[in-house]
Amino acid sequence: MKALVLIISTLSVLFTINSRAEAPAAAATCVACHGEQGKSNNPIWPNLAGQKEAYLVKQLHDFKSGQRKDPLMTSIALPLSDSDIQSLAKYFSEQK
Ligand code: HEC
Repeated sequence: MKALVLIISTLSVLFTINSRAEAPAAAATCVACHGEQGKSNNPIWPNLAGQKEAYLVKQLHDFKSGQRKDPLMTSIALPLSDSDIQSLAKYFSEQK
């Protein structure tokens, strides 16, 4: 019985850790300008936190394709894959 309780509590701890929103690896680059968790502290750098996910996806694709131009963001967006863009947009849209 004790062993069963131990297994269940271990599993629930693992599940909690797993379900916590982890910052995607690529987000480490973004925080230099857009701030920790997407809250920018520079007036010319936009906040990403709480922004609409679909909007973020579109902006990153637009930077990448050259539709939208910014010397900083174009070079940042170029190496991002579609799945990087998806997970970054999801992560920043979920920040408060
Ligand atoms: C060197 C600084 C810098 C870094 C690093 C950077 N950005 Fe940006 N980002 C900017 C600036 C400046 C703008 C505003 C560009 C403009 O005025 O059009 C911007 C704009 C954006 C926008 C559009 C926001 C809006 O409201 O339209 C998105 C989305 C974005 N960045 C995402 C990211 C992501 C994701 C990363 C990391 C992969 C990242 N940025 C890294 C400087 C940076």
